[in-house]
Amino acid sequence: MTKKRIIAYNRLEKPVLEELKSKYDVKFFKNINTKTDKVFLDYLEKTEGIIGLELEVDKDLLVNAPNLKIVSNVSVGYNNLNLEELAKRNILATNTPDVLTDTVADTIFGLLLATARRIPELDHYVKSKQWNDPLESEHYGIDVHHKTLGIIGMGKIGQAIAQRANLGFDMKILYNSRNKKPKAEAKYNATYCSLDELLKQSDFVILITPLTEETNGFIGRREFQLMKKSAIFINGSRGKTIIEKDLIESLKNGEIAAAGLDVFKIEPVEHDNPLLNMKNVVTLPHIGSSTYETELKMSELAAKNLVAGLNGEKPPSLINTDVWENIKPLVSKKTIDK
Ligand code: GLV
Repeated sequence: MTKKRIIAYNRLEKPVLEELKSKYDVKFFKNINTKTDKVFLDYLEKTEGIIGLELEVDKDLLVNAPNLKIVSNVSVGYNNLNLEELAKRNILATNTPDVLTDTVADTIFGLLLATARRIPELDHYVKSKQWNDPLESEHYGIDVHHKTLGIIGMGKIGQAIAQRANLGFDMKILYNSRNKKPKAEAKYNATYCSLDELLKQSDFVILITPLTEETNGFIGRREFQLMKKSAIFINGSRGKTIIEKDLIESLKNGEIAAAGLDVFKIEPVEHDNPLLNMKNVVTLPHIGSSTYETELKMSELAAKNLVAGLNGEKPPSLINTDVWENIKPLVSKKTIDK
């Protein structure tokens, strides 16, 4: 029997890739133009499953993938997937929630501490042998503990950040999200407030919403100007949830004090991006969930999702349950017919 064809894209931990290769005809692609790469497009035609990171799955790709049954993201975010086009073709979509929650919360909190206490800048100061006298106040950072933290997006990761802020740092927590979260409010002493009120009152603003049509570019100049001049802004969501040029302007004009960024409008970040020359900006290469342990767990979960979808079973972390409801009767009939 010929093996089912699978595309692995951008990232999949090695043991998981090897395991899939033992069962399927898997080809791994990285750093290619998926609109023009002939090998990719040829392979795509008979591909039944895609697993990987940040592959733009749009109409163009789908018309070239008539046999596709499932797209399994190795990420919790799925802004790379056009769910409408997938639904039209009854293609399942999955992601990797839960296994990364605490890891991303650790990264975001680390970024907040690093920015507030200027850790990367001072690391450079020490290693470049500039520390020759007792430290002067020009190198001081600002306190994190007991300050006000505003969390925009109180999903699982937002709540794990609130847990750290509340239990570890005695912070006052404000949050804004689509729905109120009474349990999280009680557990972490968090207060729901409007976006504008959150921006005005917070010493630190963390953005951790998914990128959707609604959140695309929703933090811009007006929002930065509402923040305190001393505020530190942390973006752990997606680069496109903010208007990056507005952030640059606000930092240049001293409308906010500093920023910690794990994500950028264009990734990898362009080398002439002005943010890279700002001392009060701490940058990371989109590593929210990238620890050895968590990347492996994400790859394993993504592979489970993929295999279930290929076998006509419901994947454990399905995004488009409507598609599953559509195909379920067909899948079970096929199983009975066999
Ligand atoms: C990381 O950004 C993810 O969406 O998993």
